[in-house]
Amino acid sequence: MSEESSVKITVTENGWYQVEGPTQIIAPDGSLIREGSKFFLCRCGHSNAKPFCDNTHKTCDFIDDGLGKKAKKD
Ligand code: FES
Repeated sequence: MSEESSVKITVTENGWYQVEGPTQIIAPDGSLIREGSKFFLCRCGHSNAKPFCDNTHKTCDFIDDGLGKKAKKD
C-alpha cells in the first residue's frame, strides 16, 4: 500500500473510530454513503447518525473495557 492511499484508523479512548486517509463509506447495498479523508465512526452503538459518531457516547456512559480503563471512574 502506498503512503498516498494509506488509511489510518485510531481507536479513541471511550469514543469513536477516527478514520484518516482517502476513504469511501459504503452502505450494505453497495451505495456510497460518503467519501472523504476524515471520518469519526461510532463504536458505542448508540449514535443516531450511524455509522458516524454524533457524540452520544458521551451521554451513554460508553466505556471500552480494553482501552478505556484509565478513563473509568468509580
Ligand atoms: S462512538 Fe460516538 S456516538 Fe457512538
